[in-house]
Amino acid sequence: MEYRSFGRTGLQVSAIGFGCWELGGQYGHYDESEVIAAVHRALDLGINCYDTAEGYGFGRSEELLARALGARRKEVILVTKFGIYQTDSLWWRDSSRAQALAAIERSLKFLQTDYIDVYLIHWPDRQTPYEETMQVLEEIVQAGKARFVGVSNFRGDEIERCMQARRVDVGQYGYHLFDRRMEQAVFPTCQKHGIGVMAYGSLAHGLLTGAFTPQTSFEESDWRSRGRAFGLELFTPENFPQNLAVVEELKAIAARHGKKVGDLALRWVLSNPVVSVGLVGFRRPSEVESSLGALEWSLSPQDHVAIQSAFQRQGVDPAPPVWLENQ
Ligand SMILES: NC(=O)c1ccc[n+]([C@@H]2O[C@H](COP(=O)([O-])OP(=O)(O)OC[C@H]3O[C@@H](n4cnc5c(N)ncnc54)[C@H](OP(=O)(O)O)[C@@H]3O)[C@@H](O)[C@H]2O)c1
Repeated sequence: MEYRSFGRTGLQVSAIGFGCWELGGQYGHYDESEVIAAVHRALDLGINCYDTAEGYGFGRSEELLARALGARRKEVILVTKFGIYQTDSLWWRDSSRAQALAAIERSLKFLQTDYIDVYLIHWPDRQTPYEETMQVLEEIVQAGKARFVGVSNFRGDEIERCMQARRVDVGQYGYHLFDRRMEQAVFPTCQKHGIGVMAYGSLAHGLLTGAFTPQTSFEESDWRSRGRAFGLELFTPENFPQNLAVVEELKAIAARHGKKVGDLALRWVLSNPVVSVGLVGFRRPSEVESSLGALEWSLSPQDHVAIQSAFQRQGVDPAPPVWLENQ
């Protein structure tokens, strides 16, 4: 495993992180025993970063992750998030002081631990002053319930406003070949402040695994059935075919290195030095094992040109001027 500095936290984080959104049930069906085996395989292979959230099934993902980690919890960097809630089909945000204080207790209970390594605000709550949330996060750190704190999906200027109240240690953002918006919108701010970057959706939420065909459809319980992904038209009937055509071209570039397209996708994410850890949503031990294909090689300048050409040829813009909430 490759390890990197996690911003200025002093932690060394594995370049590949285990994403646990899938365990919340919003990604269609999964087999619990396979997930537990996948966590064990990841631990054995040196993956030390595990990312979950209260919003991933409201305890379901956190509880299953804790069960899978068992006594090995102390070996890992445990990341969880708070601040998004659901009533029926309606999602809302709340990062108020009262909610943060209640949420940390719920997460500690579900995760069967007395501290969280990195505690993140999942999405910006624009009704609560950032100062209020950052101050309560500092209290949570002072109480020993979290070691480091940060944000996810905040704009660069929102990070700056948070920083005025309390340091943002870690930021978590969507970043993959089909989504390069953060290179301009947020990464310069992270670089300026030495914020550790966790990239999510490294495999474009499954598109870059190479497993999809024009006939692929998603279960109704799978969020990808809605077509849009964080403002991008990744799985919509209009854009899916041309996105798959890009993936076909990327497969050929990967093959020149004896690699699969998923290896190329994750390698590409990790080739940006601003990234500390590339998260992948694993559900099976075999998926964890195959992610190692992203390590110990690099993309050449010619590869980067060929990748760019593939997107241009298929008319796919990986950095359109739309923000994450544009659903
Ligand atoms: N902060 C946020 O707002 C936010 C948002 C999104 C994600 N995240 C975090 O980032 C993590 C990763 O993102 P993500 O799960 O959305 O996307 P991802 O890692 O790009 O894609 C995950 C999907 O890829 C497939 N997969 C993984 N390894 C594979 C392999 N070797 N071969 C074939 N298929 C493979 C699995 O789906 P199939 O089995 O269906 O192909 C899996 O559901 C999440 O779990 C979560 O922890 C955070």
